[in-house]
Amino acid sequence: MIKQKSIDSVMAAVRIEEVVGDFVSLRKQGQDYVGICPFHDDKNPSMHVSPRLGIYKCFVCDAAGNPVKFLMEHEKMSYPEAIEYLAKKYGIPLEYERTESDEERQQRTLRESLMIVNEFAQKYFMEQLRNTEEGKLMGMAYLKERGFMDATIDKFGLGYCPDGWDNFTKAALEKGYKEEYLIELGLTGKSQSGKLYDIYRGRVIFPIHNDAGKVIGFGGRILKKDGKDPRKYVNSRENTIYHKSDTLYGIYFAKNAIHKQQNVYLVEGYTDVISMHESGVENVVASSGTSLTQGQIRMITKRTQNITVLYDGDMAGIKASMRGIDMLLEQGLKIRVCLLPDGEDPDSFAKKHRDSELQDYLAAESKDFLLFKADILSKEAGNDPIKRASMVNEILKSISCVKDNIERAFYVKECAKLFDLSENDLNLNLRRFVWEKTKEQSRIAQQQQQQIQQQGGVTVPMDGTQLEVPDIIETKKHPDLSQQTDLLYEAEKDLVLLVLNYGNYLIYKIGQEEEQSEELRVDQYVCNEMMKEDIRFHYPLLEKIFNKYADWASYIGNQDQIIRNFTLSDDPQISEFVIRNIPVEEPKFSERWRDKYDIHTHTTRNNLRILQNQVQNILLTLKLRILENNAATIQKVLEDENLSEEDMALALQQMNQINQLKRIISQRLNRVVSR
Ligand code: UTP
Ligand code: MN
Repeated sequence: MIKQKSIDSVMAAVRIEEVVGDFVSLRKQGQDYVGICPFHDDKNPSMHVSPRLGIYKCFVCDAAGNPVKFLMEHEKMSYPEAIEYLAKKYGIPLEYERTESDEERQQRTLRESLMIVNEFAQKYFMEQLRNTEEGKLMGMAYLKERGFMDATIDKFGLGYCPDGWDNFTKAALEKGYKEEYLIELGLTGKSQSGKLYDIYRGRVIFPIHNDAGKVIGFGGRILKKDGKDPRKYVNSRENTIYHKSDTLYGIYFAKNAIHKQQNVYLVEGYTDVISMHESGVENVVASSGTSLTQGQIRMITKRTQNITVLYDGDMAGIKASMRGIDMLLEQGLKIRVCLLPDGEDPDSFAKKHRDSELQDYLAAESKDFLLFKADILSKEAGNDPIKRASMVNEILKSISCVKDNIERAFYVKECAKLFDLSENDLNLNLRRFVWEKTKEQSRIAQQQQQQIQQQGGVTVPMDGTQLEVPDIIETKKHPDLSQQTDLLYEAEKDLVLLVLNYGNYLIYKIGQEEEQSEELRVDQYVCNEMMKEDIRFHYPLLEKIFNKYADWASYIGNQDQIIRNFTLSDDPQISEFVIRNIPVEEPKFSERWRDKYDIHTHTTRNNLRILQNQVQNILLTLKLRILENNAATIQKVLEDENLSEEDMALALQQMNQINQLKRIISQRLNRVVSR
C-alpha cells in the first residue's frame, strides 16, 4: 500500500491540464482549456479542463473528475497504478506500507518479552516494599511519611528496590529472564569489569503504565541523602517499549475519569498525579517534560478536547510554558489554566485540600487560557502604548492558533474590551497572522482529509429515515416524506454550493443602527445564522462538506485552494459531489471583478445586492424546507389512530407554531402560501 503521506505529495504536485493534456490535445480558452472529449464520440471540443479547480468536465457526456479519475477511466488504471503513474510523471518518490516482515515479527515478540520482564520487576519491587524488613523500614516508611494511603500504593503498584548491589538482577536471572533484556529495559547496568548491578537500588519505585495498563517503564526516587548519587529520580531511558514522548504518566488510571468529566488536568510528575487521586481528582496525567508532544496530545484528544494545565504560582514558569500551549490550541483543544497559590505544587496543594475542597478550588480558579494570558500581558504592559501594542500582537498570534472562527470572533471581542481597542483593528492584524499560518496549516488539512477517509463512506438518505421527529412525539413507522426531503436536500445543497462558490465575498449585514452594520464574508454570515438559529444539516454528506469548508476557510485564504482540496479528496463521495456541482466557469459575481478590482474591496453595488439577496433567499428557503418537513412528519403522526389525546393536542399545537413560522418566512420570500 502506498503511504498516505506520499499520495498527499502527489496530489499537491499534480496539474490537471498536464495530465489530460498527455492524452487529449487541449486548447487554451480564457483561464481554462478545452478539447475533444475522449469519453464519447465527440466532434466539438466539449471537454473543459479547469486548472483553477483541478478537474475536467465534459458538457455533453457525464465524464468529470480529478486527475486520478481521468487516468482510471481513460487508461483503465487502478487507483494505485494512477498514483504511481503521476508520481513518476512528477518525480515524486513513493513510500509504501509493508506487511509484517520476519524482522518485524521478531521485533513484536521482543516487545512482548520485554513487557513480561517489566511485569516481573514490578511484582518484585512491590513484594520488597510490602514484605521485607528493609522495604518496610525504608520504602514504606517514606511513602507513609509523604502521606500516601495503602490503597493508593496498591493501585499505582508502587514498590521498593533493595539497597544492595544486585539483589533484583540476581532474582531476575534466577527466574530465567535474559540479561540483555534487563539491560535493554534499563533495570540492570553493567560495570566496566562486567559486573551486573541494580540501576534502581535503594529507591522507591513508580511503575509507568501505558494506556492499556501494561508496565512500560519505571521512575525511582532516592531516599538516602548521603549525596553519593545526586539524581533525585532515575527514569527509564528510551527503549523498545518505552518512548517518553508517547507516554503520559497516569493515563491508565485516568482514562475513565477523563472520558466522564470531559476534561484532563495536566501536572508535572508522579507525586502530583498520585496526590490528586488521593484527594478525589482522577482525571489527571503528568507529561514529565516541558511541553506536550504530538503523541501525548493524541492520547488526550482521543478522549477529550478539554485540558486544564495546573501551574504553581511562579510567574517565570508560567510565561515559559505559554508558548507550548499555543500548539495545543492549534490542535483544536480547549485549554484552561489553574493557578495554584504561591509556593504550592499540585502534590502539596492536594495534600492540604482533600476531596471537595480541591475540586471546588479547581472549578473556581480554572480560567480560559487565552483570556488568562491576555489578562497577564495587559497587566504587565501597564499604560505604555508601545508595550500594549506588542502584547496585543502576542495575543493575536495565540488567537490565530484557534481554528474555529466563531471562537476566534469571541476572543477578539474579549480582547478588544481588555485592551480597549476596536474589534476591527484587531481583526485586521489577526488576518495577517492567520495568513502567515496558512502554509503550515494546509499540511494539517491534508492530515484531516486522511481522517475523513478513515471514517469510511457516507450515505445520503433520500427517504427521510434519518430525519428527526420533532420533540416528544414518536412514530412507530417512518412516514414517507420523500417529496419533502427532495426539496430539503436541494435547499441544503444550495447552501453548501453558496459557500463553496461565494464564501469569500463580502456582503453588508444591515444592523438596526448605522454603526451596527458590518461587512461580513458570506461564509461567516451563513455560519453565524446557522449557529444563531440552531439549523442543522439532515444529510451527512452535505454536513461533512459544510463543516470541512468552515474548517478550511478559517485558515486557507484562497477559495480556489479550498475547492481543489475538495476535488482531490480521498473520500470519493466528497470529491464526486464537488466535481459534479461546482461550475467550471468562475462564479458569475466575480467575472469582471477578479480582473478589475481587488476582490475584497470592490463596491460594485448592483452585483453586491444580487449576491446579498441570493444569500437571504437560500437561507430562508432552507428554513422553510425544514419547517415543511417537520409539518409533514407531524401530519403523519396525527393520522395515527392510536394517538393519545394528550399527544394529539401537543401535535396540533406544534403544527400551529410551524404554520405561523412558515407564513412569516414565506412572506419574506415574497411567496404566497398555497394551502
Ligand atoms: P519534586 O522535586 O517535587 O519531587 O518533583 P518530589 O519527589 O515531590 O520531591 P520533594 O519531596 O518535593 O523534594 C515533582 C515531580 O517531578 C518529577 C517527578 O515525577 C516528581 O514527582 N521529577 C522531579 C523527575 O522526574 N526527576 C527529577 O529529578 C525531579
Ligand atoms: Mn514535590
